[in-house]
Amino acid sequence: MFGLMDQFKRPTGLRGRLIAALMNRNHKPLTLWGLSHVDIAPDDVILDVGCGGGKTVNRLVQRASQGKVFGIDYSPDMVKYSKKVNKQLIAENRVEILEGSVEKMVFPDNFFDLVTAFETYYFWSNIPDAMREIKRVLKPNGKLLMVNEMVKDGVYEVEHAKLIEKTHVCLLPLEEIRDLLLSVGFATVQVVTEAGSPWNAFIAQKVSNDKKGK
Ligand SMILES: C[S@@+](CC[C@H](N)C(=O)[O-])C[C@H]1O[C@@H](n2cnc3c(N)ncnc32)[C@H](O)[C@@H]1O
Repeated sequence: MFGLMDQFKRPTGLRGRLIAALMNRNHKPLTLWGLSHVDIAPDDVILDVGCGGGKTVNRLVQRASQGKVFGIDYSPDMVKYSKKVNKQLIAENRVEILEGSVEKMVFPDNFFDLVTAFETYYFWSNIPDAMREIKRVLKPNGKLLMVNEMVKDGVYEVEHAKLIEKTHVCLLPLEEIRDLLLSVGFATVQVVTEAGSPWNAFIAQKVSNDKKGK
């Protein structure tokens, strides 16, 4: 397993495909916990950034049954994998998977009702740029849901130092993430934690009159 650990940042090749299968299976409890903190309307247009193996896209489209779900990932192999997982939904034009970085996306301003980001901010090359870009593509009142199973709280990162090093995870304290979201212009940020667990979620909302997206 440890030979695979460096794959989470940008899953590639055969080992990347193994990681995608593992993530699709093992991230289910965290994903369902995260999704329990947002309402999804049937006609929502949703983006999952860092979509990895594509299972979250698959789950989201079941909730947005008359909407559309997009996924992006900067790993070409994850795009391929996600497309396979969502083959039928892509054929029905209910899902689209694109290759791209969260820091600079091809989507127009004010496009999505919800952007989700599961287990991915740790790897973004420029977190404020990525947050700004997510805010740009959100509709006024749209929400970002960011969900993570790791935390920097003075204890977790010490106890899991080896894992953090092997997986190339770059953790920020919860307050710093909240402050960054506010600093790029999100109007409100709710931080949710789970007692006795490192799991954490951020629900950040764009202001209702923020039409230009910036
Ligand atoms: C640990 S995996 C999580 C995958 C999926 N969200 C899940 O929960 O199973 C992190 C994913 O984020 C992608 N990723 C990391 N940085 C990215 C960036 N800047 N832009 C787009 N995708 C990124 C990686 O390629 C990888 O597929």
